[in-house]
Amino acid sequence: MPTPGAKPKFYLTTPIYYTNGLPHIGHTYSTIVCDVIRRYKRMCGFDVVMTTGTDEHGVNVERSARAAGVPEADYVNRMASEWRKIWDDFGIQGDEFIRTTEPQHARTVQWLFKKCRENGYVYKGHYTGQYCVFDNAFVNDAKPGDPCPDCGRPTETITEENYFFKLSSFQDRLLKYYDEHPEFIQPEARRNEVLSFVQGGLRDLSITRTSIRWGIPVPDESPHVFYVWFDALTAYLSAVGGPDFDRRGYWPADLHLVGKEIIRFHAVYWPAFLMAADLPVPKQIWAHGWLLMDSAKMSKSKGNVVRPRPIVNVMGMDALRYYLLRETVFGQDGNFSYDALVTRFNADLANGLGNLASRTLTMIEKYCGSQIPQHAGDEAETALRANAESAISAANTNYTQYSFSLALEAIWNLITRVDELITSQKPWSLAEQKLQTQLNSVLYSAAEALRIATILAYPVIPASTEKIWKQLGQTGPLREQGIDALKWGQLKPSTRIAKSEPVFPRIEKTDAIERMEAMEQEANKPAAPAPTPQTTSASAVAGGSPAATGTAAAAAPAAGPVKIGIDDFMKVELRVGQIQTAERVAGADKLLKLNVDIGTEVRQIVAGIATVYEPEKLVGRKVIVVANLAPRKLRGVESNGMIVAASIEAENRPILAGFLEDVPVGTRLK
Ligand code: MSP
Repeated sequence: MPTPGAKPKFYLTTPIYYTNGLPHIGHTYSTIVCDVIRRYKRMCGFDVVMTTGTDEHGVNVERSARAAGVPEADYVNRMASEWRKIWDDFGIQGDEFIRTTEPQHARTVQWLFKKCRENGYVYKGHYTGQYCVFDNAFVNDAKPGDPCPDCGRPTETITEENYFFKLSSFQDRLLKYYDEHPEFIQPEARRNEVLSFVQGGLRDLSITRTSIRWGIPVPDESPHVFYVWFDALTAYLSAVGGPDFDRRGYWPADLHLVGKEIIRFHAVYWPAFLMAADLPVPKQIWAHGWLLMDSAKMSKSKGNVVRPRPIVNVMGMDALRYYLLRETVFGQDGNFSYDALVTRFNADLANGLGNLASRTLTMIEKYCGSQIPQHAGDEAETALRANAESAISAANTNYTQYSFSLALEAIWNLITRVDELITSQKPWSLAEQKLQTQLNSVLYSAAEALRIATILAYPVIPASTEKIWKQLGQTGPLREQGIDALKWGQLKPSTRIAKSEPVFPRIEKTDAIERMEAMEQEANKPAAPAPTPQTTSASAVAGGSPAATGTAAAAAPAAGPVKIGIDDFMKVELRVGQIQTAERVAGADKLLKLNVDIGTEVRQIVAGIATVYEPEKLVGRKVIVVANLAPRKLRGVESNGMIVAASIEAENRPILAGFLEDVPVGTRLK
């Protein structure tokens, strides 16, 4: 029973992320959206808990740990702390971080299993099927040799003794639940997809494995361990008390935010597991779309991932948050582009909100002695107040419906209205004409509308709005304001404002994109040995993502030299190539576009060597090419490989590797 007068609770979750890689901006998007909702719900007076965490069991982790030459536990410890650190650094860490290797989680999974078994929904049987190791899922209706329909990788035939969950018994109950709770699965398109999946009939689900070691043991049933989805989904419950969830009072979850590819696990399996154990079912599952890179889902295996850190280092976290929420219609796929990111920043943040804050505050400093002026409640103020009130109402409605781009559009419409007021009323000429009452009213109205826009934009751009809040002379942090602070007229005349400092300095596009791409390439390099004062390391200086080679060093966080086996080394196809043509890439100081003959074909490769090599001097030169990298675009130009170079790090200077003897084009290095 909630205590009378206590804040209503709101529990929301990100998916828990696999630890066989580090976050790209697709994962970052999920976590950012959750953080935006958390901040908005807090503003609305909820007692919010947001959880995130890591999904650490399964074959993929076993493989990655083996490739990194470390025990699984060490591997996941390292990876989980990297994930935590990244979310911490970005200010989007959940209130709880749950790891599936924690004892509290193992206890919850075992307890849930016991309850399902006691209620007669679990039995032992044999299962033979085609299994996609990458997706950790059996592929229904696949025949031996069929590829996985989701990722295209070959499936494996697996037969083993498993515990089965009687999912088939839940078809009617689930359909009834969806019918009675139309809001349960969102958006509508996903709801329809799930409905037709369940209407098509449900097959029992294998929930344990004997072929995997790295998992939570089924009590007294060695060598059975829980299969990833029974294990992973239960993390949502473990994070808020597990078997004791009642004590904390956050279960059932109000919102599971997930990517569209995992909606079925959340909207079918998860409620069925909970129903089988007589536990309350979450209130809503919301599936967002994918961030696409060149129209394809961003993923490590395709080598087209964009990492968040270079963007945050160059543009700031709020720039990334704003761009992702403004450009992508929540629930649909969205395209990522560096160009659009910088354009949005300059148009909406630098020229829009940033410029409004700086011109309003500068004029208050100049014409009103740095104090918020008295207002007259005249016609101009009444009109702007009406604009502000409709922006407040539209933003609140859209935030509540998770239509973030529309919420932001409403806020930025208000910013445009304030700009128009300033342009039409010309405070500088009112000052010249000594029309102080009119001048005060315009500046009060502009500052009050700015205050309101700042509160409304806070959930999306928290760090920058906190700064504007301080500049407006407001006391106490903005994050502690509730939505009642949105009422017009709360800006107190005579409040002393702070000196205006630019919150979003304009960013030069070409330079910013080059810096982000260079950092991205640098971050994707295999981990280097511990640095010495002047380190020289072999590196690849061209396009293509080294992460795509799947080397252990690329996947694991840097923690000293990582040993790889000869098999791993042999996966990298190094060949002698000869440069046929070389030209500069327009708008990119460091890049050259090369055509390189590698014996079997001529490859277009984009290399970051333009600061050291003149293109015309490279023609005819023999180089070493990493020939089996996934293609990748750099500044819009496709690159199909990498050129190997020594990188003198202190000087940031790549030196091409080559041979003293003449070696035929196409020869493999091994
Ligand atoms: N471990 C499972 C989830 C278990 S939840 C009980 C998993 N992990 S994941 O690391 O592969 O992906 C987690 C989430 O990352 C996806 O649901 C999705 O939200 C997000 N994304 C991964 N790639 C993405 C894009 N390219 N774009 C947007 N989000 C994507 O699945």
